[in-house]
Amino acid sequence: MLGEERLNEKARNISLGAIREMFDKASKMDGVISMGIGEPNQDTNPAICRACSEAMLKGKTHYAPNAGILELRNALSKNGFIAKNFFDPETEIMVTNGGMGAFALIMQCVLSLGDEVLIQDPQYLNFKQTVNYCGGVAIPVPTSFENGFCMQAEDIRKAYIKGKTKMLIINSPNNPTGEVVPKKQLAEIAKVACELDLLVLSDEVYGSLIYDGAEQCSIATFPGMKERTIVVGSFSKGYAMTGWRIGYLAGPSAIVNKMVKVQEYFNSCINTPAQWGAVFALEHPEFAEEIRLSFAERRKIVLQGFENIQGIKTNHPKGAFYLFPDISGFGLDSTSFCNRLLDEVRVVCTPGSAFGECGEGFMRVSYTAEKDKLLQAIDRIEKFCKRL
Ligand SMILES: Cc1ncc(COP(=O)(O)O)c(C=O)c1O
Repeated sequence: MLGEERLNEKARNISLGAIREMFDKASKMDGVISMGIGEPNQDTNPAICRACSEAMLKGKTHYAPNAGILELRNALSKNGFIAKNFFDPETEIMVTNGGMGAFALIMQCVLSLGDEVLIQDPQYLNFKQTVNYCGGVAIPVPTSFENGFCMQAEDIRKAYIKGKTKMLIINSPNNPTGEVVPKKQLAEIAKVACELDLLVLSDEVYGSLIYDGAEQCSIATFPGMKERTIVVGSFSKGYAMTGWRIGYLAGPSAIVNKMVKVQEYFNSCINTPAQWGAVFALEHPEFAEEIRLSFAERRKIVLQGFENIQGIKTNHPKGAFYLFPDISGFGLDSTSFCNRLLDEVRVVCTPGSAFGECGEGFMRVSYTAEKDKLLQAIDRIEKFCKRL
């Protein structure tokens, strides 16, 4: 049997993250409540599933254009981005294999060996891995609880190296913190990006999950930004369609044009019936609103619960479905805290250190489970903290 030696160096060096072990352990235990998963627990609305199966029965079972069906690109332009009617469906938008498929394509097309990419710390785990795999170097831009885990313009300047830094990734609403970058700060980041002539990747996959009337805008809409920003979106979170693998991106036409060609070599096209399901979903924004409202309710429960736990200081993020509370007061590092939480009261949370150095002392709490489960989990965490 052939072994790993046949793989290239990049693939050989890949390893699963440290938190994987904890999740594997949890999967073998009974009575565990998960606050560790970044996926809505709801099933996709059955009407979307029906639209997809009807499309199949009508023969929409063939290859689609590399960029995605025009009907979907039209619908995305109107309704799929934070910035509505802002991108040209014919030349600036393409459909991808989930948000991750969009990253993979962007990194493959944009990065040359050694190019540096600025990413906030703490950050979504896959950013760094994808950048590294495609030959780039991920450079963390530190953020803190005090500044709402939002990158500061001066920290971007400090991390920038002329001739090396190619791209800046921004992710708002954010995974793992749930924070939404306020408009004023977004404007400052946009200004620095223009000044430093950076390409910007704006990950807006949690764009529809926003609460408490938080002001939501896309960095692509600031002066000088449309020509340097690639926006990534997805049906996964907002429409509870993680398994459908439908994502999309929009950006400068010359860049999108080449990415459509690269798509041909790696994916050919994206699942055709699923694209028709996605068209139907966008014609029914009330489905996304239903999901948002259910998370708004869960968010309230979890925020209230965490505020009442002595020793934990929680942030009050206005987006996605995460909290990122400070647990440093208990004198344990975040991995030990989360491991003991699992062993002793059977609740899974993700250690903040998994998301970068600045995540140490915090944990990510996903409020994607049903309300009764969330209440039980909070009760268990409270008991655990009291004991500590
Ligand atoms: C910040 C962020 N971006 C992108 C994705 C990718 O989502 P998908 O590939 O399912 O569209 C995720 C998934 O967890 C995420 O948290």
